[in-house]
Amino acid sequence: MLKYSLALVTGASSGLGKALSHALSKRGTSLILTARDNEKLKQAASDLPDSTQLIACDLSSNRDRKNLVRKIQEQQPDLIINNAGFGLYGPAYSQPFSDLEKMVETNIQAPMQLSIEAIRTWLKLGKKGTLLNISSAAGFFSYPNFCVYAATKAFVNHFSQALHEETRKSGIRVLTVCPGQIDTNFRKIASRNFPQQKNSLTMSADYAAECVLKELDKGKALSIIDWRYKIAVGIGRLLPSCFTQAILERSLKERYTIHTKSDRRE
Ligand SMILES: NC(=O)c1ccc[n+]([C@@H]2O[C@H](COP(=O)([O-])OP(=O)(O)OC[C@H]3O[C@@H](n4cnc5c(N)ncnc54)[C@H](OP(=O)(O)O)[C@@H]3O)[C@@H](O)[C@H]2O)c1
Repeated sequence: MLKYSLALVTGASSGLGKALSHALSKRGTSLILTARDNEKLKQAASDLPDSTQLIACDLSSNRDRKNLVRKIQEQQPDLIINNAGFGLYGPAYSQPFSDLEKMVETNIQAPMQLSIEAIRTWLKLGKKGTLLNISSAAGFFSYPNFCVYAATKAFVNHFSQALHEETRKSGIRVLTVCPGQIDTNFRKIASRNFPQQKNSLTMSADYAAECVLKELDKGKALSIIDWRYKIAVGIGRLLPSCFTQAILERSLKERYTIHTKSDRRE
């Protein structure tokens, strides 16, 4: 099992980020944890060592991202986990544009900026480091009614794999992990609180975190962490895109309702 001395984890206040932070702490890694909601972050870290650093940071804000970059330059964590992210179910045209912009900033701009600045810092100091970019199985498809989210994760897949090639000879590793469904707040947020059913494909966040950390010990650049999703992605990419899109669209049918302008947040 590879050991890391200091990890920065974004989106550490809940779900996969929280589970990854706890799993890393058990392995003796010190932590810098970030999310927007400071109270939620404090609660998530309440049973972690006192040395755990908490930073309230909105990754859709350029100023906050720059503060986080400064933190990376000052403390040079040897593991950076770009985990924070969210999606929204429903046709893109039904969403307020400001929410879609925030999604792009959080899911694309933030991992891109933190990845590049971390690599610059490691290269300048002759250090080795690992970037773990959390993507999604959705990133392999053009996904009707989840289209901006899936496109942001397609960016993460392409960007991170190419970055891995650019840096691997310098001892820097970039791993992209694509989970399937995990039991977190993700679907509640994506559906704007529409009641969600668990299904047999849903993993617990703790189990998903263990799977993700196991992938760190392997040498791959990209991993889909659930064999059922590996098969689904493999088959989905062989089918004509109209079939795949129809199946994907159906998979979201019971998951959301379209909100009118008056009952959604702008
Ligand atoms: N759950 C799934 O089924 C699933 C499947 C595939 C991929 N993923 C990916 O897994 C990652 C983790 O999601 P999750 O499932 O653990 O969802 P989650 O429980 O909703 O956690 C998301 C985390 O990101 C933080 N976050 C959201 N927007 C942020 C922003 N603008 N700035 C800073 N932090 C922000 C949230 O904290 P605050 O709200 O306090 O900021 C929270 O800590 C995401 O990248 C997601 O796309 C999830």
